[in-house]
Amino acid sequence: MSFPSATIRGDGFVLRPLSHADVDDITAACQDAQTLEWLPLPRPYERRHAEGFVGEIAPAAQESGRGIVFAVEVDERVHGCIDLKATNWLSGTTEIGYWVAPWGRGRGLAGRATRLLAEWALLEHGLERVVVRAATGNLPSQRAAESAGFVSEGVARNAGFVHSGRVDLVIYSLVRDDLRL
Ligand SMILES: CC(C)(COP(=O)(O)OP(=O)(O)OC[C@H]1O[C@@H](n2cnc3c(N)ncnc32)[C@H](O)[C@@H]1OP(=O)(O)O)[C@@H](O)C(=O)NCCC(=O)NCCS
Repeated sequence: MSFPSATIRGDGFVLRPLSHADVDDITAACQDAQTLEWLPLPRPYERRHAEGFVGEIAPAAQESGRGIVFAVEVDERVHGCIDLKATNWLSGTTEIGYWVAPWGRGRGLAGRATRLLAEWALLEHGLERVVVRAATGNLPSQRAAESAGFVSEGVARNAGFVHSGRVDLVIYSLVRDDLRL
């Protein structure tokens, strides 16, 4: 099982496959201090890392069935990235990760993209449970998950790592039944 390439239209944004033309914007976004604070990306983040992400890492994730990566596009420019990962087709579970570029922040884009992608996974691909994990110190990410309608299940201690060390993670989920409420 694997996710098919897709373009998913949201309100004021589109989730679409990454393209080589996004490399410069991805490089700039992943050099941002807040992004590097909360994501264990290569540091310093160089253009070759974005090239590898677009050309190798994202395609490999999709081919393996583990997930799929989308650009979050607004006004024909990539404003962020969102992906499904750690998908287990047998148990019907998957996880969403995201970042929003500095030029896209402040308008709730991560929460809106998360809701759209979670509904795509639950309603169109037969999955049962979508998870978001956010460090206890990462309040914007927690708010994004909450605004997407995800429910906090508690804190997984020492479950994540960032450049500064180990972090506790708030576990959020959206399950298929939540969409019926
Ligand atoms: C997390 C992230 C994707 C959110 O981006 P965004 O969608 O543009 O988020 P916004 O700036 O619109 O803020 C989302 C919410 O957090 C709130 N928020 C923003 N900064 C905050 C802060 N420092 N403290 C508390 N709340 C904050 C906003 O008020 C907003 O709340 P609302 O929905 O109630 O209005 C973005 O900050 C980012 O890319 N961070 C770095 C990478 C990262 O952390 N990825 C997630 C890893 S789990």
